[in-house]
This record gives sequence, structure tokens and C-alpha cells, in this order.
Amino acid sequence: MGMGSKIHQNTHSTATPVVTDAASDCPRRAERHPAASAATSPGITDAFKSSQCDFSIAYYPWLFVTLGVMKSQPSSLVDTFDRRIRYLRLSVTDRCDFRCQYCMTEEMRFLPRKAVLSAEEIIRLATLFVDLGVQKIRLTGGEPLVRPDIVDIAQGLSNIEGLNELVMTTNGSQLPTLAKPLVDAGVSRINVSLDTLCEDQFAELSRTGDLKKVLAGLDAAIDAGFERIRLNTVLLTGKNDTQIEPLIDYALDKGIDIAFIEEMPMGHITQTNRELSLVPSAQVLETIRRRFNLVPIVGSSTDGPARRYSVEGTSTEVGVISPITDNFCDACNRLRITPDGRLVLCLGHENSLDLRQMLRSDMDSSSLKRAIVAALAYKPERHVFDQPDEPQVVRLMNATGG
Ligand code: GTP
Ligand code: 5AD
Ligand code: SF4
Repeated sequence: MGMGSKIHQNTHSTATPVVTDAASDCPRRAERHPAASAATSPGITDAFKSSQCDFSIAYYPWLFVTLGVMKSQPSSLVDTFDRRIRYLRLSVTDRCDFRCQYCMTEEMRFLPRKAVLSAEEIIRLATLFVDLGVQKIRLTGGEPLVRPDIVDIAQGLSNIEGLNELVMTTNGSQLPTLAKPLVDAGVSRINVSLDTLCEDQFAELSRTGDLKKVLAGLDAAIDAGFERIRLNTVLLTGKNDTQIEPLIDYALDKGIDIAFIEEMPMGHITQTNRELSLVPSAQVLETIRRRFNLVPIVGSSTDGPARRYSVEGTSTEVGVISPITDNFCDACNRLRITPDGRLVLCLGHENSLDLRQMLRSDMDSSSLKRAIVAALAYKPERHVFDQPDEPQVVRLMNATGG
């Protein structure tokens, strides 16, 4: 087993312990191929590097034996807290053309290409999840549009029978060329990260981003005819907290939606002091209500965590996402797949199951589905971002996909 990792003993279930919990003191090691660690660590075969950190994934040979006899496993995705999974967030790459301060460090090491799931592997996995009851898939990254085969992936996912919604979160920089092909491939809605309308501030916050490209991308997206477009704004005190009103005005002018997000503490990013930088959603809503009437919107079962309001008299919706000040985990309806094929059960915990290893060992679809259902027993009740003394997540946002 890799240093700093331990087998996660879950108290909620007696199901197969296929999942581990990596410790938060993330030591650096030389990169190792899964097979290399298999040879030296009996019982647990996978330790590899992702971005800034090592994650060790427990992988038990006897899992296969156990799966073989688990005939009575439930066939749908309901966790031990009675939450039904309908929404899969698929991160297709950890790479990005930006280096946003709250998401990445300046010097990033990315996954080797062979470690990243191929388009075929992504579509095969997605099909299994749809069979298990997933109705909505969100493509994320890193930046999903830096993957050259992203339109083919979108088309392949759209073709899956039973999938109701295919959506994407992007930084928008490639939308001038890709907006129309994505609509044609069946992506119905997109969320575009936009933290400021000031060029200098944008350059500072995104480090390598160009505001002009993102704004051109948004115009292309509007022309391309997505059903809805939403801006995602992570607010940071002293950086872009004066942008609430300019961004609302921009969204109203363009007839698109906007969500203001509280920053989550992901990875070891020292540039921002999280406690000081938090802009609570209540404060955001108060600012907006000084100028507009906000009418609450009742969501559907495949919605993400935003509390949404319509701006009275307009087509624009405003949302707030409040992981720190208003925990929304009791309504969690989603699972994540990382670019290297780990099933991550919660954004705020390290628990994961290595699906890539199973895919590449030619496991049949029924066994894969049983492994996925069994892993659900390890979905934690909630994240602990709002409890500073609790262990925090060591991976960066681009390693998980938002
Ligand atoms: P919709 O599907 O349109 O509702 O979008 P979404 O809000 O789920 O997705 P998006 O990719 O735009 O994410 C917006 C913010 O919500 C990001 O900061 C995500 O990290 C955050 N977010 C999404 N799902 C979760 C979650 O399960 N837990 C936490 N803590 N944050 C989440
Ligand atoms: N906290 C909150 N949101 C974040 N995002 C990236 N990093 C963080 C963080 N640390 C947002 C991006 C993107 C979405 C997928 O996640 O702005 O819109
Ligand atoms: Fe790239 Fe999005 Fe992360 Fe910014 S937040 S660095 S755009 S993945």
C-alpha cells in the first residue's frame, strides 16, 4: 500500500470494501504504473500520480471472487442514505488552457495520456451508468474542450438510449469553433466559468486565460442555440467580489443565467486564504435583491446544487451554490468519474473505485455494474469543507471535474 493511505473501514455497510481513503498528508513519490505497484504490494495494486498528489487506490483480487457470487446486489443506484443517483459528472481530461487560482497551481503535472480513458471507454462506462438509472451526464474537466475527440465523445453519449440530458461545463475559450458542433452532437446546455469582466483581473485570476476569447465563446454559444447557458462565478473577497453587479447586468443583457459559487478548499493551493476570501451566498443574494426581485424556482431531480431564482420580468435565472454556508449534501444525486477512470463518490472525500483497471481487465458489463453498485455503500453522508479541523481533500478540482 502506498505511504499515507489506509483502507477505509466503512461503518454504514458490510459490503465489499473496494474503496480507500487517501490521507491528507500527500507525500510525493516517483510516478508508478499500476502494474508496477501490483508486483510489490500484494492485495492492493494501484498507486499512481495525479496532478499534484498521489492517490492510492485499494484493489482487492478477491473482489472479483466476491462479485462473482453477489447475485443479490441491487441493480439501481441508491446509497445508504437513500439518495438516488441520477446525475453523472464525467471529467474527460485534467488538462486545461487556463490555470485558475482556485483550481490549479501554477506548475501543474498532468496525467500521462495512456492513463486517461479513451472515448470508447468513456462511452462504455456511461452506458453502464445509464443502465443503472443515470439520466443526466455533465462533461467536465479540467477543460473538456481541450480534448481533440470531445465532439465524438458527446455524440457517442447522446446516442445512449435512456440518457435524457447531456450537458457540459467549460471555460468557454474554445467555444468560438466548438459551440455549433457541440449543439449538433446533442449537448443541450452549457455552464461557462466567468469570474470577472475586467481583463486584467481575468488574466490574474485565470493566470493564462484571455477574457476576449471567453466572451467571443459566449457569443458563439448564444448563436449556436444551446437550450440554456449559465455563467459560473466563483467569488473571492478582495479579488472579484465587486463583479456581482456587472456580471448580473451582462447575463441579463445576453439573456443567459448565472450562478455564484462559494470557493471550496480543494488541494494545497496557497495563493488564496480561503477563510478570508469566502463570499457567503446570503451576501450575494442581498446585493442582487437591492436591484431585482428574485422568485425561487423549484428544481428537478437531476439538478445540481444551485439554489435557483428567476429574475422577475426577465428570462435570466440566478443561482447560488453554497458548499460552505449551506450544506446541500442531503440532496446529493451525483457521482463522478475522473479522467483516469476512478469513480469518486463525493467531491469532498478521497474515496474512489478504480474502474479503469476493471475496464482494461476485460471485466464483463454485469460485473462492472455490480462493482459500481457495491461502491455506493461508501458514498459519504456529506463533505466537510465547512469544518476546518476535518481532513481536507488533497486533490485539485481539475483532477475530479468540479
Ligand atoms: P447543473 O447540472 O446545471 O445544475 O450544474 P452544476 O451546478 O451541477 O454543475 P457545474 O459544473 O456548473 O458546477 C458548479 C459548481 O457546483 C462547481 O463549483 C462544482 O464544483 C459545484 N458542485 C457540483 N456538484 C457538487 C457536489 O456534489 N458537491 C459540491 N460540494 N459541489 C458541487
Ligand atoms: N471551488 C468552487 N468552485 C470551483 N470551480 C473550480 N474550482 C473551484 C473551487 N475550488 C468551479 C469552476 C467551474 C466549476 C466546474 O467548478 O469555476 O465553473
Ligand atoms: Fe481550467 Fe476550469 Fe480549472 Fe479554470 S477552473 S483552471 S478554467 S479547469
